[in-house]
Amino acid sequence: MEVLGIDIGGTGIKGAIVDTLTGELVTERFRIDTPKPAKPEAIAETIKNIVDHFNWKGIVGCGFPTPLSHGKCLSGSNLHPSLKGVQIDDLFKKKTGLDFTLVNDADAAAEAEMHFGAGKGKQGLVAVITLGTGIGSGLFFNGKLIPNTELGHLTYKNEAFEKYAAYSIKRSENLSYSRWGKRLNKYFQHINLILPPDLIIIGGGASKKLHKYKDQIDIETPIIPAENKNEAGIIGAAIAAAEGIK
Ligand code: BGC
Repeated sequence: MEVLGIDIGGTGIKGAIVDTLTGELVTERFRIDTPKPAKPEAIAETIKNIVDHFNWKGIVGCGFPTPLSHGKCLSGSNLHPSLKGVQIDDLFKKKTGLDFTLVNDADAAAEAEMHFGAGKGKQGLVAVITLGTGIGSGLFFNGKLIPNTELGHLTYKNEAFEKYAAYSIKRSENLSYSRWGKRLNKYFQHINLILPPDLIIIGGGASKKLHKYKDQIDIETPIIPAENKNEAGIIGAAIAAAEGIK
């Protein structure tokens, strides 16, 4: 099935038409800068430009980088506070006339990883944790997504863990991989206590560097890097729409 997949990020909004059976892009990717400020109407306008670019009339899957429940934004997170409480799928439908499936960005990337990457065929409880600007999560049981988990918002010293251990914090506090790895150790020990997963897959910008900090993480659960299929966010969003995940 062909679906328009869109990945909304803090700096760019990208779309492509995806063959959801093969996970391949069937068009070139089209990217527009995320509007600043990223208010609801400005984002909707950008989404319309992407839909118009492809002259798309079918269903759309869209990854969104904030906490969501059934297409409603629960917190503006790293995008914009005015998004809180907005029913994003309705907003985009009003603007474009098309049906949208909204899915958390980490869920989308994780979905692509489970279909076509490191998670393919993995059973039991699998936690995909994305380490980037924030910490995102996609949780699967026997290959099926349990949507909208926000494991980066577990707290540590009264703050979200992502404010202490995201990849962006390593950069902003100029931490070595070994010091940052010790922070991640606290994070993953906590995850391991409260879930505990059978497998952890690291996605996001830090996944390729896993060999530099993995030694610091002292848990029995295996931790492996995502294969980072190109455009996993776009592909996973399209899959979510094809499968009707909300
Ligand atoms: C947001 C999540 C998102 C993650 C990665 C967090 O700040 O709350 O919804 O998945 O960042 O973008």
